[in-house]
Amino acid sequence: MTTEILSTHTPERFRQAVSSAAELLRAGEVVALPTETVYGLAANALDPKAVAKIFQVKGRPAHNPIIVHIASNAMARNCVRRWPPLAEQFARSFWPGPLTLVLPRAAIIPEIVTAGGATVGLRWPSHPFMQAVIRECGFPLAAPSANLSNQISPTNAAHVRAQLAGKIPLIVDGGQSQVGIESTVLDLTVSPPRILRPGMIHAESLAAIGGEVTRDGWQATGSEARRSPGMLQKHYSPKAKLLVLQWNDDAELQAQLVARHLSLATCHVIAHTKIPAGFEATNVSVIPHDAEAFARALYAELHRCDAAGAKLIVVEALPATPEWSGIADRLRRAAA
Ligand code: TXA
Ligand code: MG
Repeated sequence: MTTEILSTHTPERFRQAVSSAAELLRAGEVVALPTETVYGLAANALDPKAVAKIFQVKGRPAHNPIIVHIASNAMARNCVRRWPPLAEQFARSFWPGPLTLVLPRAAIIPEIVTAGGATVGLRWPSHPFMQAVIRECGFPLAAPSANLSNQISPTNAAHVRAQLAGKIPLIVDGGQSQVGIESTVLDLTVSPPRILRPGMIHAESLAAIGGEVTRDGWQATGSEARRSPGMLQKHYSPKAKLLVLQWNDDAELQAQLVARHLSLATCHVIAHTKIPAGFEATNVSVIPHDAEAFARALYAELHRCDAAGAKLIVVEALPATPEWSGIADRLRRAAA
């Protein structure tokens, strides 16, 4: 299959890409579309055959539920059996945006979307292109991240192409994803609500709106992890080994690598505060010491390291404050 790549940077191209994507989606195809978190691999959420293609293209295990993307409150309510007051409050505060709400599934959502479960994850994305496509289609879009299963999520069209070219008919280029890591997943079927996957909307922000929320330990196991595989200990992995380390100067960093019998020469360092300057052979990337900027840039750096054949990626430890918690979660899983 040849994969068409459409850009969206003029009003005319944007409209053309919306109609091409919507036409393919109506025909039951899967297409890669930009969202503000990461790129998504979308299909008509109401068409089980179309959703089955998502699992096939990604090599995704059948027990992993897919998030359903909507673009209005009416559409959201159609997908669920109950729309509790808390859902209304969270939706009003954070939609459109990087928050997925888990609610009781309505019968119109096919079982394949929810992996046979009684709940559905719903998200109203803020990316203008994704919203335009959903409105044009008139049906919700099931969309996991547009990567092969267990690889790093794509945050631009080139990342999608590297993994999925030849497997899907269309990739829409909507620029670099603004948020850069996957949405926060919040389970509203339990009381108090429970964070199943941390993200850039963190526990403190959620608590400010909805009162108490609980957070799982990061190493869910057994049935817990099956319910929400984003909780699996190892997830979102680059091909290289990833280490999170803390150092004050080059010598401290070097000593830690030497102690682990690791070579500085083949090491890629991602730093935000203590920038190594003394290692000529070492590849150093600097991401600003700002949680939003860091999240936005992180996956692109990991993709770049993979593409460069890196064997070892060392990431400078992050501050232990709430706004960094979603990023810290992804690094822990990548390092596991
Ligand atoms: O930001 C995002 O959420 C991106 C963009 C494309 O919207 N999507 C995304 O999808 O990250 P995916 O498939 O890579 O991650 C979906 C995760 C599942 O692995 C699971 O942890 C959780 O969301 N999830 C989805 N539906 C669920 C449900 N009904 N119950 C519990 N967890 C669910
Ligand atoms: Mg994913």
